[in-house]
Amino acid sequence: MPPEMSISMLVTATDGNHGRGVAWVAEQLGLKAVIYMPKGSAQSRVDNIRAHGATVRVTDLNYDDTVRLAGRMARENGWHVIQDTASPGYADIPRWIMQGYTTMSMEAIDQMGGKRLPPTHVFLQAGVGSFAGAMVAHLAGVFKDETPRFIVVEPTHAACLLASADAGDGRHHAVTGDLETIMAGLACGEPNPMAWDILREFSSAYVSCDDYVAANGMRILANPLAGDDRIEAGESGAVGIGLLDMLANLPHLIPLKAGLDIGQHSRILFFNTEGATDPENYRKILWHGKYPIAG
Ligand SMILES: Cc1ncc(COP(=O)(O)O)c(C=O)c1O
Repeated sequence: MPPEMSISMLVTATDGNHGRGVAWVAEQLGLKAVIYMPKGSAQSRVDNIRAHGATVRVTDLNYDDTVRLAGRMARENGWHVIQDTASPGYADIPRWIMQGYTTMSMEAIDQMGGKRLPPTHVFLQAGVGSFAGAMVAHLAGVFKDETPRFIVVEPTHAACLLASADAGDGRHHAVTGDLETIMAGLACGEPNPMAWDILREFSSAYVSCDDYVAANGMRILANPLAGDDRIEAGESGAVGIGLLDMLANLPHLIPLKAGLDIGQHSRILFFNTEGATDPENYRKILWHGKYPIAG
């Protein structure tokens, strides 16, 4: 950014958590923020952002079109875009966001007691892939002598990294449509190219999951085995655990589990990236068994 450019308005598109972070930063720095959200955004997520003084505009667009709208509004009004997807001429901020995510992998390594016992597998939930790409870049470097297997997990209708891997041409590809899922944080149809470049090199598998997989993970983390901590996990944060449980218990997933060499010897690392950010849905899933396991 040229030194003479002054910032007064931050703008971003979000399905909840990123926008809450941007609104918080604006509040801390005494700036204004306008946050665009896709259609169907949960009222609780809107309220959480407004609580930091930001203006929230819920659009009638999906996530990726909302990102484009936010960019256009920024150009027209001279606002400053804080987005986690790189585009030509816009790389610093997405890179800094990815670098910020490595706070989580650093904390995880601390919690594991350092590098003594590397994880054999890391499950990473992905929207545009910035979080997953950052975790992979950091962990593959730290554990370079025994690189874990990285498994990228996406919602069925927003599986753009899986689609990119499937295309087999090394390039990233978008998926379109409503991107309908309860995993709102992962409802993104266009990969961050910077993240894709990392994931393409290091991922062992891409798995798309229906909503009931996330609901399964939320229930498991809320009702742990004796001695384990109870974890309040939102839809996007819990999908990896939900998938592991299904890999362990569903006969038709045995080949995938075997292909990934997941067994009793495994040390599997998960990151829960959100709490109950949609409390109404959280209760329906935990209390009323919404989204039961199918298949
Ligand atoms: C709860 C949660 N988990 C994970 C992610 C991963 O995000 P991305 O792949 O878009 O970096 C997000 C993004 O907003 C999120 O909200």
